[in-house]
Amino acid sequence: MDIRFLGHAAFALEHDGKTVLIDPFLTGNPKAAVTADEVAADAILLTHGHGDHFGDTVEIAKRTGAPVVAIVEIARELAEEGLEVFDPNIGGTVELDWGSVRLTPAWHTSTTPKGTSNVPAGLVVEMGDKRIYHLGDTGLFSDLALPKRRGHLDVALMCIGGHYTMDRFDAVVAAELVGADQIIPCHYDTFPPVETDSQAFKSDVQNAGFSEVILLQPGETHTP
Ligand code: NI
Ligand code: MN
Repeated sequence: MDIRFLGHAAFALEHDGKTVLIDPFLTGNPKAAVTADEVAADAILLTHGHGDHFGDTVEIAKRTGAPVVAIVEIARELAEEGLEVFDPNIGGTVELDWGSVRLTPAWHTSTTPKGTSNVPAGLVVEMGDKRIYHLGDTGLFSDLALPKRRGHLDVALMCIGGHYTMDRFDAVVAAELVGADQIIPCHYDTFPPVETDSQAFKSDVQNAGFSEVILLQPGETHTP
């Protein structure tokens, strides 16, 4: 499977002709690698409702017919837009023809574009023979160590930008807790408040022996 970084916290997971989009914030994203009217999607997965994650979900889902997987309160708002949705809560797994996604806790806040409050999540995605953990937006907390107990994590997609999430120093601790083979950092350098030294994060994590860190520019693809 291929992991394409689309900028900020947005990724496309591609395997066997299927494309799974995570947090497709493209319009208004200064680092977006694709536009909302061209990106492929067989499913859209959301960590939470903030605009820099929810992004172009409605437009892409309407154009492609892709179902959206989001925590139940967000999913039900999207259903009101006429979209096909799956509505798990924390701990729940949704199985689709390309693989599965399970919602995990994340320490953050979440509102939808309509202004309703809900609970943010991380995502454990199984696709092909890989297991990918997108942490969502989160601060550092010890339960980041739990997802790997369900099964080996190949890649973690990890916020490191600080201010709205954990910074690169807490993310080094998170790297040890998560225990993935590889980490692709995200949610940094998109806007001034989340600028950080991603090379220093890479060095700190690798020197500690926690994981291999893959730094992707928007538009680049990594094959784990
Ligand atoms: Ni957020
Ligand atoms: Mn965010």
